[in-house]
Amino acid sequence: MRIPEQKIEEIKNSADIVDIISEYVQLKKRGKNFVGLCPFHREKTPSFTVSIDKQIYHCFGCHIGGNVFSFLMEYKKISFVEAVQELAEHLGVKLDFDESYSKNQSEQEILFDINTEVARYYSNNLLNELEAEYARSYLEKRNIKIQTIRAFGLGFALNKWDSLVKFLIGKNIDIDKALHLGLIGKTNNGKLYDKLAGRLIFPIFSPNGRVVAFAGRTLTEESDTPKYINSPESLIYVKGRVLYGLSFAKDEIRKLNNVILVEGYMDLISLYQNGIKNVVAISGTALTDEQAQLLSRYTRNIILLFDSDTSGINASLRSIEILLKRDCDVKIASLPSSEDPDSFINKYGKEKFTKIIKQADNFLEFHTAYLEKQGAFKDPQKTVEAIRELIKPVAIIEDELKRTILIKNISKKFNLREKLLENELDKLIKDKSKLSVKTQQKSEDLNKDSDLFDLKFYHPKNSILINKEVEIIKLLFEGDKNILEIIFSNIEPEKFELEINKKIFLRVKDEFENFGNCHPSHLISLFDEETQKYLRQITLQNFTISDHWEGKYPTENYDKIIFDYTKDLIIKLKQLIIDKQISDKQKLIKSSNDESIILSLIREINELSKKKLNISLELPQNNP
Ligand code: CTP
Ligand code: MN
Repeated sequence: MRIPEQKIEEIKNSADIVDIISEYVQLKKRGKNFVGLCPFHREKTPSFTVSIDKQIYHCFGCHIGGNVFSFLMEYKKISFVEAVQELAEHLGVKLDFDESYSKNQSEQEILFDINTEVARYYSNNLLNELEAEYARSYLEKRNIKIQTIRAFGLGFALNKWDSLVKFLIGKNIDIDKALHLGLIGKTNNGKLYDKLAGRLIFPIFSPNGRVVAFAGRTLTEESDTPKYINSPESLIYVKGRVLYGLSFAKDEIRKLNNVILVEGYMDLISLYQNGIKNVVAISGTALTDEQAQLLSRYTRNIILLFDSDTSGINASLRSIEILLKRDCDVKIASLPSSEDPDSFINKYGKEKFTKIIKQADNFLEFHTAYLEKQGAFKDPQKTVEAIRELIKPVAIIEDELKRTILIKNISKKFNLREKLLENELDKLIKDKSKLSVKTQQKSEDLNKDSDLFDLKFYHPKNSILINKEVEIIKLLFEGDKNILEIIFSNIEPEKFELEINKKIFLRVKDEFENFGNCHPSHLISLFDEETQKYLRQITLQNFTISDHWEGKYPTENYDKIIFDYTKDLIIKLKQLIIDKQISDKQKLIKSSNDESIILSLIREINELSKKKLNISLELPQNNP
């Protein structure tokens, strides 16, 4: 779903971040900000800080931070769109998407609408058309109830070559777009035809429940036609990013904090009908990293339940590494051979099925058992190879304790020497850490600018100057017009030590002078994510007016105190800049032998000293 930019803005503006976060974290007022125990890491003293006027939060312990949307995303493990929806609901803001086919509707919206119309058409066929009788009796034979047909929006494509084409034309739907969605095809001589004619239709939904594609299952026994035909990828359908059934399953997945991954559409539907609702299907393709990431937003406990044939086992093995990389716990449940989840639950019922799930093996046990069955531990040469293969996924796991326990269990259960396993593991981990040191170095280089709140590690010589500079930047986000005016008319960022401060200064100045806008949350939103992170870190810290501020933050006369502080700071910064110029010149004097140069340097130093004395007099006394 696409939510218009201005709607998002409207929601953001009507939400109060302190109200929202207070529902999940106990916040106490401290000074202008609120603090509480961080919900994202364990701590005993609060370092989680929330600001009303800036509408941001930041934890000084674990460095997580952002705005009201990112809080909900992080806290509830939901997507941006879901966070917007949730907040909209909370605030009673209507997300209105019915202005169908209006001009400013995005391309994607139009495609979604076409799919919705077509899904309705297919569903109507299945439920009401005389010709669909054999489709209905097919579903009956497969035990699918009418409520289930409705819940999943199942449909039927009439077995004529142009039924859908006619429907689209009758509805005035853009034929090129229908072709793009793969609903219809075009023959060499330009004739349009239905692509899924005569098939049972499964609409495929996005996590938010919008129809992104269709799958059509053949109802004939003929082996020369593919069992399923799926929509091609389109502007709204990227196969590797969709998991069939997620929109139906997500609440239950969160509730139970685990998910069962199956292969087929019918597997998912049958399980759902039998009350097993924490299920998604990968639809016969290999699990992708994007799908793993999507899933890990809801739970990290994954149970693979693939067919027990070779292709099912291979699918499991391939999925394991992908899921481990996303920090998931992976278990594998096995069905009796020649059963799939759909056939199993229809034959044996819910209770037996639940038992199968409870008996799921840890991925390593599963893999070891599989290798053992293949005779991999019978001779020493094969054993070495098998162990290497076994250990590879274990090395992906970050948690050392978890790794150790896994290795111990495996060595015991399969009578393998623990030391052998450990050695192999150590080798792999070393290779891995060599790699990650490199990438870490890279990201550290990138972060240099934003990590400078730790001023001790940065330009130790000029740290006092940088300190003042940072204080100036903080003041730009106080939401006080007078402060911005006095700063902009007295400070030139060209002399700033740090690029990032210079960049922020100039951007805020530009915004303020052109639009008069000085609202902190607006000003912060002008910057890229890295810079916003930096701003959250510095602007949520108290001013360094006095060491005692932490305890008794001024509540009366706050504006006046801050304004005086600003003036003070401007003077000090200017003086510091001159001090630096003077000391640069003194250094030159020391290293120079030329009398005339030395003399002119001394003159310049005298000038600078005079200038320094005058600074406090120069400053306009425009009190607020
Ligand atoms: N699949 C596909 N195209 C095919 C065959 C399979 O996209 N030609 C995908 C489908 O998502 C299917 C899954 O792979 O659901 C598993 O395939 P299979 O086990 O053959 O089908 P079932 O889901 O068991 O379907 P049914 O029970 O109706 O036979
Ligand atoms: Mn099946």
